[in-house]
Amino acid sequence: MAAPEDMQLVGRVLLDPTRPLPARFRALFTLRNLGGPEAVELIGQGFSDESALLKHELAYCLGQMRDRTALPVLIAVLKDRTQEPMVRHEAGEALGAIGDPEVLDLLKEYSEDPVIEVAETCQLAVRRIEWLQQNPDAPDNIPYLSVDPAPPAEESDIPALRATLLDDNCPLFERYRAMFALRNIGGKEAVLALTEGLQCGGALFRHEIGYVLGQMQHESAVSGLSAALERFDENPMVRHECAEALGSIAQEECLKALQAHVKDDEQVVRESCEVALDMYAYENSGDFQYADGLKQVQECP
Ligand SMILES: [Fe+2]
Ligand SMILES: [Fe+2]
Repeated sequence: MAAPEDMQLVGRVLLDPTRPLPARFRALFTLRNLGGPEAVELIGQGFSDESALLKHELAYCLGQMRDRTALPVLIAVLKDRTQEPMVRHEAGEALGAIGDPEVLDLLKEYSEDPVIEVAETCQLAVRRIEWLQQNPDAPDNIPYLSVDPAPPAEESDIPALRATLLDDNCPLFERYRAMFALRNIGGKEAVLALTEGLQCGGALFRHEIGYVLGQMQHESAVSGLSAALERFDENPMVRHECAEALGSIAQEECLKALQAHVKDDEQVVRESCEVALDMYAYENSGDFQYADGLKQVQECP
């Protein structure tokens, strides 16, 4: 357990807008790993930042920590229409990840939000919490450690899952369930089916495909992810997720794609490429994993 002064030190890095963004991300991941109410409190202080990328990651981490003490700040962010859609989306998703039925009424209310990504996120979160109420003993999403917005489908036939995934008439929750089942099955055929999903559905759906492909770290996704990052008319939230996925696959071709967009017109895409390239440098530096403790934060510029 970290000493309180260490926690505060890491918090100062996270909350200092003059620090380079990759250093702030590393501080955030350190706080997430340390956990506890003090970490939640420090992370919660970051929502007035000017980087939507950082703020959406704050919300994501609070959801993954599944700490109920984060509920008030996440609720406030979801309600705050001055926050970017991507940030409000992630706050709604985090409320679903924490999974407390106390927020069901609020999530139902925001299922009608005029911002489609926010509305769809809240609809999914409602379905997830209700599903958990009906399936209290469901196992976690092995082999991945993330808390996902929907449980994997029970189906295990890849063509059947692909058909559900790519069906624009199918309810979003079922398409998400197919997506997470394909991820858990893994392998080239599942990756290629998921990559097709980068060209259908709404922006929320496509961004989640990018996220899942990043988790899978499979080389067969590289050309589809690079193509999505190149599409300037694509929603920045989708392009951002594809950039991060390329960073986690981290092959030569991925790096080229990321380097080509470090000066992108979209702030969120630019910053994603910057953070992804930093993650790559860390993962290849040998000694330690990204986001793996205080040492890195204390050493960063
Ligand atoms: Fe997201
Ligand atoms: Fe994201």
